Amino acid sequence: MSAVPDPVDGLGDGSDEALQRAHAALLSNKPEPTEGYPVMPLFLLGLLSSLVFVGSIYFLHFRGGLSALVYDERFDPNTASKSAVVAQVDPVAAGKRLYNQPGACVTCHQANGMGIPGAFPPLVGSEWVLGSEERLIRIVLHGLAGEIKVKGVVYNSVMPAFGEGGGFNWNDERVANVLSYIRHEWGNSASLVDKAKVTEIRTQAAAGRNKAWTAAELEAIP
Ligand code: HEC
Repeated sequence: MSAVPDPVDGLGDGSDEALQRAHAALLSNKPEPTEGYPVMPLFLLGLLSSLVFVGSIYFLHFRGGLSALVYDERFDPNTASKSAVVAQVDPVAAGKRLYNQPGACVTCHQANGMGIPGAFPPLVGSEWVLGSEERLIRIVLHGLAGEIKVKGVVYNSVMPAFGEGGGFNWNDERVANVLSYIRHEWGNSASLVDKAKVTEIRTQAAAGRNKAWTAAELEAIP
């Protein structure tokens, strides 16, 4: 046979040598077989695992209580809600809402605090509103009955209890707020009433009281 290369497939003349050369060339292109795991997939697995790990930690920190209303990712419903609400309560504004509740003070003393001549005494400029907290708190906690003089005019009727025994049963904070309101509205200007003072009178000084006060009883209290 001649050694002239085959012009069609380039493998030579088909001799054994030519075949061996052609196979050797093909084999040398294949990667050498290795032991153990290939490096690249291991690296990717590690990268993915660490992404999942870091992602979980991020999620736990910034999940915002999983609330649909939360758009601040640092919002923590356990601490945020309480402090925000407490800081916003204005006793005078809260007291105004209580004063104007249906059936509450507004019904008798009116929105302008002037009362109704001959029936309900005024709160504007009243010595009872601007004077002793001790008396004022008792009036709203337990009610008032009998003769009372307000700004020189005598009234003789009944005011219901708001702290206990009446239909309202307001807690100490509400009583303090409504009194703070009437001491600050319509040009009235006296100190705010402290919730702790209401608590003290309800649970100590006037503990067990279950009927309306009379003006005479209140006047005996400084
Ligand atoms: C059902 C009508 C009625 C309601 C409701 C009512 N009062 Fe009175 N209030 C009276 C009457 C009547 C007197 C006078 C009582 C008397 O004659 O002994 C009075 C007296 C007072 C006095 C002392 C006198 C004065 O004018 O300063 C104050 C203070 C007072 N009320 C505040 C309030 C507050 C605050 C509320 C709401 C928490 C309220 N009252 C709800 C009828 C009412």
